[in-house]
Amino acid sequence: MNWTDLKTSAEQRATLAALFGENPNRAHEYSVQHGDMLFDYSKTQIGADDRALLLSMAANAGVEARREAMFSGEKINETEDRAVLHTALREMGDRSVLVDGVDVMPGVRETRARMADFSEAVRSGAVKGQGGAITDVVNIGIGGSDLGPAMAVLALAPYHDGPRVHFVSNVDGADVADTLRGLDPTTTLVIVASKTFTTIETMTNARTAQEWMAERVTDTGAQFAALSTAEDKTAELGIAPERVFGFEDWVGGRYSLWGPIGLSLMIAIGADDFDAFLRGAYDMDCHFRDAPLDQNLPVMLALVGVWNNQGCGHATRAVLPYDQRLTRLPAYFQQLEMESNGKSVAMDGSALDVNSGPVVWGEPGTNGQHAFYQLIHQGTRVVPCEFMVAREGHEPELAHQHELLVANCLAQSEALMVGRGLEQATAIMAKRGLTGAELDRQARHRVFPGDRPSTTLVYPKLTPFVLGQIIALYEHRVFVEGVMLGINSYDQWGVELGKELANALTPVLRGETSDKGKDSSTRLLLDYLRQRD
Ligand code: F6P
Repeated sequence: MNWTDLKTSAEQRATLAALFGENPNRAHEYSVQHGDMLFDYSKTQIGADDRALLLSMAANAGVEARREAMFSGEKINETEDRAVLHTALREMGDRSVLVDGVDVMPGVRETRARMADFSEAVRSGAVKGQGGAITDVVNIGIGGSDLGPAMAVLALAPYHDGPRVHFVSNVDGADVADTLRGLDPTTTLVIVASKTFTTIETMTNARTAQEWMAERVTDTGAQFAALSTAEDKTAELGIAPERVFGFEDWVGGRYSLWGPIGLSLMIAIGADDFDAFLRGAYDMDCHFRDAPLDQNLPVMLALVGVWNNQGCGHATRAVLPYDQRLTRLPAYFQQLEMESNGKSVAMDGSALDVNSGPVVWGEPGTNGQHAFYQLIHQGTRVVPCEFMVAREGHEPELAHQHELLVANCLAQSEALMVGRGLEQATAIMAKRGLTGAELDRQARHRVFPGDRPSTTLVYPKLTPFVLGQIIALYEHRVFVEGVMLGINSYDQWGVELGKELANALTPVLRGETSDKGKDSSTRLLLDYLRQRD
């Protein structure tokens, strides 16, 4: 794709003030509504010609054809020769989805039913530990086998009526030690979540948990379950086949929450609410497939991303949910977006001729306002912000706090857009009695440049259905951006080198092999770290 036209348009972009000034209807014309969800991108510097250009770029990149290829099970993950079918895990219609000529849907539905039976049995106490009904579930997994369920269990806390759920991910023993401390091994269920069942962090933590449980429980296998594509490997941990929930290699790790990797979430909220979560995602899938590009939420969210990053050159984007229960959403999106689109080689092996996906980061509001918003408002770099907020909270008795939350969210995007000029700042400081050079100096510190882009996603309430919609929205956004960049969003070769080197360094740390051949910096650090009392 030729990115020059986009960069040229972006260089000539109008200010937000000018765009709003010339079009009183801008907010309506530059927002998309789907059902009860509203995506407002009017506070970006995208003008009419820019939007037309972006839409034509998406069309020329073949987004629509590629989208159908994904939904219909074609092997669009070309470097791994795999289909990309997380959408099949939440397919709620009766269509067939063929991979290599075989319909995968009967298997998906069967696993979903097994998960529902198992989670209801855990919740009702029919599946017990040695000491009685399960009180605690510990999900051991990392990356996509952790971030999704960890984020969603927190997000759906008002629906959580099953056993307590904990998450262990880090190979740092502190994680597993702090989590297991205080739990009763005789009433704990451990879920080992790993697509490959080879990930060193997960396998190490699983063995540690098994040893912890074995001190009090005779048959640890009865209190373990496994979620994996490598069903043969799960037996090595003594996990009975009926406790293994398998999935296929056409589900990417960071897209796997919708199937077995969501088991801990299903146990927390129950099969019906999990079903609503899937329905929300399915609803977004249907919208993504059917809506015209300019009225298509994922497409427009992607085009805003492309405009800000590849067009305007803004290297990061902040995800700012004004929703405390979405605390882990920025971390979830970080993996989703950065592991998918953080690549510099196009599908055909050529070098990318434009920036890859952006750095994604964020924290919930209002907390972030008292931490890093300073830079967003007055720093020298522009950080496009993606605000999110619910119309209604889950605490009707605290509606006044929800109003404060919403007011803060809207105030931030307004402040970023309108800013505060020197004249205004000077008037404010003059009122406080300052004059002369001191007035000028103090006023300058209080100037907000404004004209800083943001989008706002408004949803009715953070229900399982809405959470499903939001996650699917971002998944498809990543897809569209990936297609426009011409990359494969579904592999992750960039994580391999570090894993290989860590495997080689472990015996060096243990003193079993020499550090010969290592660079001098690594040797210096090894020398320091090997000194133990
Ligand atoms: O190292 C990256 C990664 O492969 C992620 O893509 C994945 O979500 C995570 O590790 C965990 O992998 P697994 O589920 O196979 O343990």
